[in-house]
Amino acid sequence: MSYLSIQGLHKRYGDTAIFSDIDCEIAQGEFVTLLGPSGCGKSTLLRCIAGLTEVNGGRILLDGQDLVPLTPQKRDIGMVFQSYALFPNMTVQQNVAFGLRMQKVAADESARRVREVLAMVELGDLAERYPHQLSGGQCQRVALARSLVTRPRLLLLDEPLSALDARIRKHLREQIRRIQQELGLTTLFVTHDQEEALTLSDRIFLMNAGRIVQSGDAETLYTAPVDAFAAGFIGNYNLLDADAASRLLMRPVHSRIAIRPEAIGLGQEGGIEAEIRGHSLLGNVIRYRVEARGVELLVDVLNRSEGDLHGKGQRLRLNIDTAAIREVA
Ligand SMILES: Nc1ncnc2c1ncn2[C@@H]1O[C@H](COP(=O)(O)OP(=O)(O)OP(=O)(O)O)[C@@H](O)[C@H]1O
Ligand SMILES: [Mg+2]
Repeated sequence: MSYLSIQGLHKRYGDTAIFSDIDCEIAQGEFVTLLGPSGCGKSTLLRCIAGLTEVNGGRILLDGQDLVPLTPQKRDIGMVFQSYALFPNMTVQQNVAFGLRMQKVAADESARRVREVLAMVELGDLAERYPHQLSGGQCQRVALARSLVTRPRLLLLDEPLSALDARIRKHLREQIRRIQQELGLTTLFVTHDQEEALTLSDRIFLMNAGRIVQSGDAETLYTAPVDAFAAGFIGNYNLLDADAASRLLMRPVHSRIAIRPEAIGLGQEGGIEAEIRGHSLLGNVIRYRVEARGVELLVDVLNRSEGDLHGKGQRLRLNIDTAAIREVA
């Protein structure tokens, strides 16, 4: 049986439906990422699960118990918000201990658990500091420690890394994953960063306009997008309509197709004649814009040596791996 089961969840603000039929199942200890564009309903779904926002219908079962009638305090859920707020007049130690004080946990037990969780997020040395004496990344780790210390049944993380620079972000997300696995915490993590979703998750739920359009592991989402939206959101797929696809492949194609830019080879022989239209350098990868048979495509090439650099107007041959061509709805 699944640990968290969301059934026919319905939420509207006034006359506007945010989502009208969310169904999903999450296993105990699973790390699931909600990925989707801004405004698609990710935070609203998390807030409904946490009980901070009322739902208009449906059930949220956690370990068999329906959460919907329960107050947030009774749900036993840890949450880190998009804009976390620490108590400015409390030290790190006091901020983290706050939830335990509310639960009336004995002082020595509380002190032990706070020490334990601060060590986990590598903040043991800063326990006596106040929030204004911390960096953004350190504040974010305090927020994370605060949500872990009460040992919640479920951890909800709403873009907890959004305010951080790329390096700290990467470090912190690895810490989150490690702690989550150590504690076996069932976790729902929100991001709109596809790389974050692909590297962290056991499973990804891809959301668009209040619907979960696809769920699966990183590999499935990356290589087998269900529709044009999924292909556009994950990987930098070339999306071709049936006409363009027929022209490019020189055979009748009856639906839209998606081809990943790294599934197309650029060389001197075979394949289809193409002309370089431009490129952008992505570090280890060069992303070319090429035209072939009147169709414009993105082609990713590893930036191994000068031989991989081709100027605008240069004519080359395209080799498309037919196994990588996906028909999409
Ligand atoms: N209190 C509210 N009243 C009315 N509409 C709301 C309210 N809160 C959110 N919305 C609307 O609900 C939709 C979903 O919002 P939500 O915050 O869940 O998006 P999100 O997926 O988390 O986006 P982001 O990635 O930008 O955080 C948006 O169109 C938003 O404008
Ligand atoms: Mg949000």
